Amino acid sequence: MTKKVAIVTGGIKGTGRAILEQFVDQGIDVVTNFRKDQATADAFLKEFENKKAKVHVLHADLGEQDQVNKIFDFVKEKYGYLDYFIANAAATAFKPLLDIKPHHVEKTFAITITAFLIGCQRSAELMRGRNGKIVAISGYDTHTYLPRHGVLGAAKSALETLVKYFAVELAPLKINVNAVNPGFLATTSTKIYMGDLYESIKQANEQITPRGRVTEGKEIADVVTFLCSDKADWICGQTIRADGGLSHIQPMAMPEK
Ligand SMILES: NC(=O)c1ccc[n+]([C@@H]2O[C@H](COP(=O)([O-])OP(=O)(O)OC[C@H]3O[C@@H](n4cnc5c(N)ncnc54)[C@H](OP(=O)(O)O)[C@@H]3O)[C@@H](O)[C@H]2O)c1
Repeated sequence: MTKKVAIVTGGIKGTGRAILEQFVDQGIDVVTNFRKDQATADAFLKEFENKKAKVHVLHADLGEQDQVNKIFDFVKEKYGYLDYFIANAAATAFKPLLDIKPHHVEKTFAITITAFLIGCQRSAELMRGRNGKIVAISGYDTHTYLPRHGVLGAAKSALETLVKYFAVELAPLKINVNAVNPGFLATTSTKIYMGDLYESIKQANEQITPRGRVTEGKEIADVVTFLCSDKADWICGQTIRADGGLSHIQPMAMPEK
């Protein structure tokens, strides 16, 4: 029972992996999942064989409710309790809204909203008496127009709302619920989403981000692990923008001087 246990969804690459690495470095066992990238999952398992903590990788599509439950059932059977739930994985059909079909909406909301709802309900059961922490990863499509992000942006906005409601409802159980909203992330999904334009858009983001660079996810993981620490007990239902200042900037037609 002294061993801490975390679930990090989509933890074999990108931001999820950066979060998972920090947990493992702290000696926290992690259960993660992937949907289709078996090759990366196999390589990842080899790499994490002999680390400070155990990592379990499950094949589970978060768009399917029984597969979300499969992750929590695994934790219940193996450990009987849970300390941290990080809702990181996301996927959508990147299309203009006029091309969106109802099944795109259903799938995006199933992964971002229904899976989070089930995850929080299962966490409430498994985190009792453990001062548990839940952190959702949102996105800057909630507050900024991003081309072809209409449905994901709507789902992430709903996610930030759920975070506030769960924070209030789970606070009496001593479970904190918060979110982190990153800016541009230099990860696999960004490369796929941007295709040939990736390098030029990355450079543009490096130029306009006040900190003068972008992140691959380490700084997001820093905020997540802080929110999972006892020092964050008083933070309830907040969405923290961790974006190097990007959300304060408007591309300008005129120089300042
Ligand atoms: N990329 C950005 O610029 C950016 C900006 C702000 C916020 N975010 C948010 O940050 C989070 C992480 O993004 P990232 O760019 O680090 O992602 P990433 O590198 O593309 O990794 C996403 C992970 O989630 C898994 N996944 C996707 N759909 C899944 C599903 N239906 N069921 C189970 N697993 C699934 C993927 O597995 P498979 O590869 O096997 O499918 C992959 O392991 C997401 O919530 C994203 O919305 C991203």
